[in-house]
Amino acid sequence: MSEPVVLQAEGLAKAFGGVKAVDGVSFKVEAGRLLALIGPNGAGKTTCFNMLNGQLKPDAGRVTLGGRDITGLAPREVWALGVGRTFQITATFASMTVRENVQMALLSHHGQAWRLFGRAREAHMSEANRLLEQVGMLAQAERACGVLAYGDLKRVELAVALANAPKLLLMDEPTAGMAPRERIALMELTARIAREQGIAVLFTEHDMDVVFAHADRIIVLDRGRLIADGKAEDVRANPAVQAVYLGAGSTFGAH
Ligand SMILES: Nc1ncnc2c1ncn2[C@@H]1O[C@H](COP(=O)(O)OP(=O)(O)O)[C@@H](O)[C@H]1O
Ligand SMILES: [Mg+2]
Repeated sequence: MSEPVVLQAEGLAKAFGGVKAVDGVSFKVEAGRLLALIGPNGAGKTTCFNMLNGQLKPDAGRVTLGGRDITGLAPREVWALGVGRTFQITATFASMTVRENVQMALLSHHGQAWRLFGRAREAHMSEANRLLEQVGMLAQAERACGVLAYGDLKRVELAVALANAPKLLLMDEPTAGMAPRERIALMELTARIAREQGIAVLFTEHDMDVVFAHADRIIVLDRGRLIADGKAEDVRANPAVQAVYLGAGSTFGAH
């Protein structure tokens, strides 16, 4: 059975000076599915993300979320419509506890002022605990984020993103800086939560083992253009994709 389309990008384009960073890119992501966006450095992956979440206005093309046109909306508006993002640079407050970070995110999601937080330590306590349980961080709820291991911090970030009840999660290199085992664990967790909750996920990732293990579909960018879109085995066998990766000096899953 096919799942409803959550995100649709049609003919997205963005140039910087003379460089066509993204050049007529179209794709879609369905509810509960993980779509990997791969391609060499400079292929236009981050620029794509930035157009999807409102940080960059496309020169051309359209972005729809659940059928609604969100092209050119501000990041805050896109976020409020249910597009979550996890960052390469960590998005938690180091001096606050794990639970407080999630409570802050919940306050924000429910449209409550952050200044209430000081008076309302109990705010959204049970919802925060539920989210921490989902990402396996409940036992560390009282610890300051600043003292956490990197992989644990990434799981808190995931809980913070989930606090917004996203329809779509954008993850640009979520596992950067993590050890291979931690990477697999984080993406396994993300995949399980996405499938259980029907969240669409678009992610970039350098480790092809992680991509092939967790993506339902893969799209490949090269110099701003989409050169492949399909299931792992089709993309792996695609000569154009192989040429790009061999040319860049790396191979698929060969390590
Ligand atoms: N703000 C910017 N100003 C000028 N050029 C940019 C900017 N952002 C990205 N680029 C250029 O656009 C291209 C795509 O970059 P990017 O989207 O970051 O690729 P990726 O994330 O796939 O590595 C590169 O040539 C990059 O140098
Ligand atoms: Mg990038």
